[in-house]
Amino acid sequence: MSSSLPLAYQSGFDNQFTSEALPGALPAGQNSPQRAPYGLYAEQFSGTAFTVPRAEARRTWLYRIRPSAAHPRFQRLERQIPGRQLGPIDPNRLRWDAHDIPTERTDFIDGLLTIAATADPEQASGVSVHIYRANTSMQRVFFNADGEWLIVPEQGRLRLATELGLLDVEPLEIAVIPRGMKFRVELLDESARGYICENHGVALRIPDLGPIGSNGLANPRDFLAPVAHFEDIDTPVTLVQKFLGELWATELDHSPLDVVAWHGNNVPYKYDLRLFNTIGTVSYDHPDPSIFTVLTSPSDTPGMANVDFVIFPPRWMVAEKTFRPPWFHRNLMNEFMGLIQGAYDAKAGGFTPGGASLHNCMSAHGPDNASTTAAINAELKPHKLDHTMAFMFETGRVLRPSRYALECPQLQNDYDACWNGMAKTFNGRN
Ligand SMILES: [Fe+2]
Repeated sequence: MSSSLPLAYQSGFDNQFTSEALPGALPAGQNSPQRAPYGLYAEQFSGTAFTVPRAEARRTWLYRIRPSAAHPRFQRLERQIPGRQLGPIDPNRLRWDAHDIPTERTDFIDGLLTIAATADPEQASGVSVHIYRANTSMQRVFFNADGEWLIVPEQGRLRLATELGLLDVEPLEIAVIPRGMKFRVELLDESARGYICENHGVALRIPDLGPIGSNGLANPRDFLAPVAHFEDIDTPVTLVQKFLGELWATELDHSPLDVVAWHGNNVPYKYDLRLFNTIGTVSYDHPDPSIFTVLTSPSDTPGMANVDFVIFPPRWMVAEKTFRPPWFHRNLMNEFMGLIQGAYDAKAGGFTPGGASLHNCMSAHGPDNASTTAAINAELKPHKLDHTMAFMFETGRVLRPSRYALECPQLQNDYDACWNGMAKTFNGRN
């Protein structure tokens, strides 16, 4: 485990950040001088094509001890991520119990499980959903060539040692690592578990606010990027990459986390979900969950997300004359849900922290029988939903469960039963 001293951060979203761990290490007035300060190498790290519109462009200039290109050939690892193969087509509503933390020594990469994916990783859009479990810090360094990672811790604090610096995250916080950024996951507690949304599409951003105005939901200043922090270590380090879903590794003779200074907007960042400004009805009816969007990756279709990251945080319920839980629904969009803490207001049982559910396009769902009966009979006083944090990865394309996810013992065989016995209350009169 690492020590947990408080770290320094830079505040803001999609800013052109600058940071240097040694004074004067960041070149002034030029990206790629003939001789960079301190004998460093300049390297550009692009997150978008060079010619995208300026508002879409993400890139960072790195000033590092050795260029990333100085590496031997990658070799395919014997141990691959369970769940790389998608399972047979299954339109059913699915729900899983939480996966236990393994007892054998397992680092963050060893503990990955792929639960579902909208597409093969070579496609330039869609998402994959993973679960991670770990009981030991990574000694190796990793990067994912297949997409950006949104990491949602459910148990255990993590230190993410990235090329651009250190990020500490704990349950109820999230972290986002850009596609291709090298990092090492260290544990700040005995073990860790959580969820990952791998975004193969355009980078996540905070949503437009429309009529909400200039404040609300996730405020830009609450997003935190790291400050430069480098390792000048000339001992062997294994560098693993995920490329088209497969793990490949090479051996370096130095730490690749050797960036002494950097500037740009293609950065890892963290956000505390407890800071989310939650908006809801103060009159009647249950609004669409899009009002709880923290981050979104748009698709080519206006308003239809490649993926939205939506949370269900503590909040007051005050709606009058209203069935207050989420209504029964059948949606075009596809919903993978997880639970970080507490209970979710539409489920009386079976949906536990670390567990998950999947409701794909047009599958009918909503509150279970027990929650429905309770909501119909509830006295509609102001009521605080507290000590809870559920989330949803909502995608425009069907999430196909992996073969692993359809065969693992955590899959609940009786999920449909939570809607059993819905009483016929129709009485032919009004
Ligand atoms: Fe839903």
